[in-house]
Amino acid sequence: MNKLRKNIAGLEGYTPGEQPVGEGYIKLNTNENPYPPSPAVIEAIAKEAESLRLYPDPLATALREKAGEVLGLPSGSIIAGNGSDELLTIILRCFVEPGEKVVTPHPTYTLYETLVSIQDGELVRVPLGDDFSVPEEIVVAGAKVTFIANPNSPSGTVTPNDAIRGIAEKAGGILVVDEAYVDFCGEGALRLLEEFDNLIVTRSMSKSFSLAGLRLGFAFSTPAIIEAMLKVKDSYNVSRLAIAGGLAAFEDIEWMRANVRRVVSTRERLSLSLSAMGFRVFPSGANFVLAGTGRWDAGAIFRELKDQKILVRYYDTERLRSCLRISVGTDEEIDALLREIRSIIKTKDSKQ
Ligand SMILES: Cc1ncc(COP(=O)(O)O)c(C=O)c1O
Repeated sequence: MNKLRKNIAGLEGYTPGEQPVGEGYIKLNTNENPYPPSPAVIEAIAKEAESLRLYPDPLATALREKAGEVLGLPSGSIIAGNGSDELLTIILRCFVEPGEKVVTPHPTYTLYETLVSIQDGELVRVPLGDDFSVPEEIVVAGAKVTFIANPNSPSGTVTPNDAIRGIAEKAGGILVVDEAYVDFCGEGALRLLEEFDNLIVTRSMSKSFSLAGLRLGFAFSTPAIIEAMLKVKDSYNVSRLAIAGGLAAFEDIEWMRANVRRVVSTRERLSLSLSAMGFRVFPSGANFVLAGTGRWDAGAIFRELKDQKILVRYYDTERLRSCLRISVGTDEEIDALLREIRSIIKTKDSKQ
């Protein structure tokens, strides 16, 4: 039971028992897409709802084939999951026995640590550099699995493919490159799959495709690794609605790309505006930015924003205590956020 609680607590921005936020809030704390998914997705889900009495295809064959067609991979190299979180869980269940080493950078997506603890693995935390770059020490002798979120959360930093290649070459065990946010920055590591038999790339439809509520993600790897993961997954892990919605989302990929362009343009404006105010903004390849608040207390800004019904993410940890992570919202939401931050820091400065 404790482990289950921990699992929920490890999720992105949610705490156990938390209610959905009420009316009037600007929600910039969980890296959701501010724009809706393609209308074709809603239409396909509504149509599929007529068949809900039937079980889904346990292998989500049509969806894996479609993902393969769009991304240039055979469907035997792909597994679909109930969000990419499920695939991260399956990876640990498949490849890590109690006491075996799992390496995660720090700070990164907190769910990795939670999953290692559920699996009774030995967690090896490797501190990221001052600029949140991945250091050479990420290659740890005896590691069964090594995680790299690329772009990383909460820093937004991107590890270039050359560096990923270098790590995959030296890592003895499996290297998982978690590309939940990759569409906001580039092509990612899928093309490295043909070079390595120890690489797993995971992707999510939650962020760029605006489908966080549908729960759909993918893992890409060698047929042997995918086969092992398929054995461990629940029989019907992806619902009929998710399969239908995912297929429609891939059919209308231009919709996703247009939303990504809008988010990226707002991200750049947000980053420039925060830098102009004196914050240290880390270059982001994701749909959020991490900003060091410098002489102003990040926790106080977080609380004052919350009082004004603007939710951002604050981590009360040694490394991140002086930072805020802000998801990119619509232009109007970001304008409201910037107005509020300006007013908060002006008041603070006038009191000094
Ligand atoms: C780095 C990273 N990986 C995976 C996920 C989970 O994605 P999904 O919604 O596909 O489970 C998140 C969610 O915020 C994330 O930040």
